[in-house]
Amino acid sequence: MFAEKLINWYQENGRQLPWRGIDNPYYIWLSEIILQQTRIEQGRSYYERFVTSYPTVMDLAEASEEQVLKSWQGLGYYSRARNLHAAARHIAFDLGGRFPDTYEGILSLKGVGRYTAAAIASFAFGLPYPVIDGNVYRVIARMYRIYTPVGTDQAYKEFEHLLQQLIDREEPGLFNQAMMDFGALQCKPVGSDCSACIFRQECLAYRGGVVAELPVRPRPAKIKERYFYYFDIRWSNPQPSIIVQQRGAGDIWQGLYELPLYETEVPIADSKLLDKLGAVLYNWTGQEPLSMEVGPCLTHQLTHRTIKARFVRVNFDGKPAKMQEKMRVVGLSELKSLPISRLIDRYLSEL
Ligand code: ADE
Repeated sequence: MFAEKLINWYQENGRQLPWRGIDNPYYIWLSEIILQQTRIEQGRSYYERFVTSYPTVMDLAEASEEQVLKSWQGLGYYSRARNLHAAARHIAFDLGGRFPDTYEGILSLKGVGRYTAAAIASFAFGLPYPVIDGNVYRVIARMYRIYTPVGTDQAYKEFEHLLQQLIDREEPGLFNQAMMDFGALQCKPVGSDCSACIFRQECLAYRGGVVAELPVRPRPAKIKERYFYYFDIRWSNPQPSIIVQQRGAGDIWQGLYELPLYETEVPIADSKLLDKLGAVLYNWTGQEPLSMEVGPCLTHQLTHRTIKARFVRVNFDGKPAKMQEKMRVVGLSELKSLPISRLIDRYLSEL
């Protein structure tokens, strides 16, 4: 009953999206990984870009990591792109190019969690696994007036159990798409028009007047701050050059390029800024700059971190006397072709 009503609603009101109505698991996988990272509108252009640049899983597997990171640039959370690439290589080179066609097989791919596995299994292979994302949590929490904080392991089990009974076993993919759109278009986080909802009779939250209370969110983790001082070190002789370095493993932005970085636990006081950063620069390069200027603070928000970044603009009259091991000199025009973090991209384009 629920599934039938929902699917009827979807067939009237659902969105036309480029990754719908297809059963190519590789394309569906691409779309889901991209959509974990961005909204539909931006997701569309990245999806088109990936499908065009890498029409098959083989093409993605054969691309270099730098190419893939470059295609991903702007989406953030680059470990998703690295996992995507690693999984494509696994499918291409270990599985003979055949995309796994069971829930467990899909789930074992790098970077694929239970949500993505259920999406691919149902959309591409018609397997009856319910997807559970923020939209689905909201719809179900309200329909059944469930106060368990969503996004927790306990909530996942509880909602999964319920959805296994609700899902349309003939058309699980359609059911899952319909749940997503129902959450996105009708049962919205705020400002839903419940009086026009097809479930106004059944929805326990609506009947009890508690729609706005649900779903219950878990308490957010405390967001920590990090303080980054980036050195934009340039000279123009014999050609316009800048120093970059690549980020290592075990931290954000692994493998991406950035400017030489000095990170501190606490922000440096404005009165000490020039002294302190001047000393760092001299220590790294063994040279006095022609000029040095500290720019304003740029705030960059990541999921669990706020980065407070300041950029130190340094001019030398040529390549510095010495450099640190990680540092690399690149031409200014070459910089644009390297995969860089969104923060560095913001700085360079605001310059
Ligand atoms: N968000 C994540 N996956 C989606 C999909 N397949 N359709 C619409 N929105 C989504």
